[in-house]
Amino acid sequence: MKTLRPQKSIAGHTLSNTAVKALLGAAAFGAGLALTLLAASPAKAATGNPEAAKAKVAMCIGCHGIPGYQASFPEVHKVPMIAGQSAAYLAAALTAYQKGDRKHPTMKGIAASLSEQDILDLSAYYETLGKDLPAKAGKGGAPSAAVTALLQRGNCLSCHGENLNKPIDPSYPKLAGQHGDYLYVALKAYQTQGSASMGRNNAIMAGQVKGYTHAELKQLAQYIESLGGDLKTVPQSRFK
Ligand code: HEC
Ligand code: HEC
Repeated sequence: MKTLRPQKSIAGHTLSNTAVKALLGAAAFGAGLALTLLAASPAKAATGNPEAAKAKVAMCIGCHGIPGYQASFPEVHKVPMIAGQSAAYLAAALTAYQKGDRKHPTMKGIAASLSEQDILDLSAYYETLGKDLPAKAGKGGAPSAAVTALLQRGNCLSCHGENLNKPIDPSYPKLAGQHGDYLYVALKAYQTQGSASMGRNNAIMAGQVKGYTHAELKQLAQYIESLGGDLKTVPQSRFK
């Protein structure tokens, strides 16, 4: 089973047999859920056209095309890197803003203006954007004992994969190297379910973040930011 490899160790820390079994259980659960989601969503069957997206990205690059660009509402943090993220996850995220499962007001407004085909095209475009640029290098080194324990408690690698950069399902996000302040806001958002104006409704991640303090989520976010991975912000100057 190819999902086994990343679960065996967290950057060199060997897990116990029971831990591996628990991780496998979570992975099987995640994969089963993903299949259900795929079956339920006709959008995933259609394909995106990255060429067609070139006429549509003007709406995105003012924020996602400026390295280090800060969003200031409702919380100050960097806009997430989306170039190099997997298309199926980008489409799932945009659909979640559109449906209101993700409450971020700006992204909700933007997603509301997109058709299903726009979402597929933009997602396909951003998946390949920046593939020609060098990958972000990580700081290296094993996580601290405290971070290792936090990662094991939430079985993070069982779904987000080796180095948190190889998710077991394309509709799950790559995390490695993502801006830490954004990751922290995203993790906290999964702790708020069912609110009309805040948080993110997602059954899988709600289960994962339950029981973590904000300080622990921040520690996880800072560690994940230090990893090397595929995610990038490709500057606006490259669009001509
Ligand atoms: C005004 C700034 C702004 C613009 C314009 C904008 N975004 Fe965003 N985007 C954000 C912010 C801020 C977030 C983080 C929202 C949150 O916390 O959920 C985000 C999140 C996202 C995410 C989720 C990323 C993840 O890792 O889950 C996707 C996908 C996305 N944007 C795609 C787009 C696309 C495609 C466009 C153009 C059609 C666009 N955005 C335009 C600011 C912007
Ligand atoms: C059972 C599978 C599973 C496990 C275990 C899991 N995740 Fe996730 N994670 C997901 C899925 C699916 C999403 C996408 C949710 C959505 O669409 O909003 C996600 C989303 C995220 C996001 C948002 C990324 C973004 O770009 O907005 C972060 C951050 C995250 N996970 C971190 C973690 C951490 C840290 C752990 C361990 C404490 C963890 N995850 C454990 C499946 C999992």
